Amino acid sequence: MTDRFSTLISAEDIAARVRALGQEIARDYAGQPLVLVCVLKGSFVFTADLARAIDGSVRIEFLGVQSYGEGTESSGVVQITQDLTRTVEHEHVLLVEDIVDTGLTIAHLLELFRTRKPASVKVCALLHKPARTRVAVAIDYLGFTIEDKFVVGYGLDFNQRHRNLPFIGVVDQP
Ligand code: IMP
Repeated sequence: MTDRFSTLISAEDIAARVRALGQEIARDYAGQPLVLVCVLKGSFVFTADLARAIDGSVRIEFLGVQSYGEGTESSGVVQITQDLTRTVEHEHVLLVEDIVDTGLTIAHLLELFRTRKPASVKVCALLHKPARTRVAVAIDYLGFTIEDKFVVGYGLDFNQRHRNLPFIGVVDQP
């Protein structure tokens, strides 16, 4: 049976918000080179759009991260499955996340990146579910705050599926 979805955030609304975030980021970094760290897999679509919305000098790195546990719960145990290809020492780093849910993943990544001595490290997340916070982390650039619903699309998956939906949706219960 094919899943059906209800649209939570349309492709048009995502595009408008991503454009605004890109402009804000370009303004804040004011021409200083920036390393966008795409946290895989969920951020691949967001990072691709965000990078093109930033009018400035940008380098892209990919970080493979796996949070142990299948389904809809993050365990908080974060495993790096693929590391950066170059050092970020003395560079401005922006971690690009699809969603901050409990906050455990991004808190872990911030700790990890601080040991790598960047000039600065900030967080950009497309979505935030404040109802599920277990570790409070400052999100420097945020797309949308959403309620406590499991969402898919625009890079986000449920059991590795639905990342290709162009909008953010909620799976309809049969
Ligand atoms: P956290 O460590 O609980 O903040 O979770 C971070 C990761 O869990 C995200 O980067 C997503 O990969 C995944 N995740 C959390 N909530 C959702 C959701 O609603 N849909 C899809 N993936 C989610």
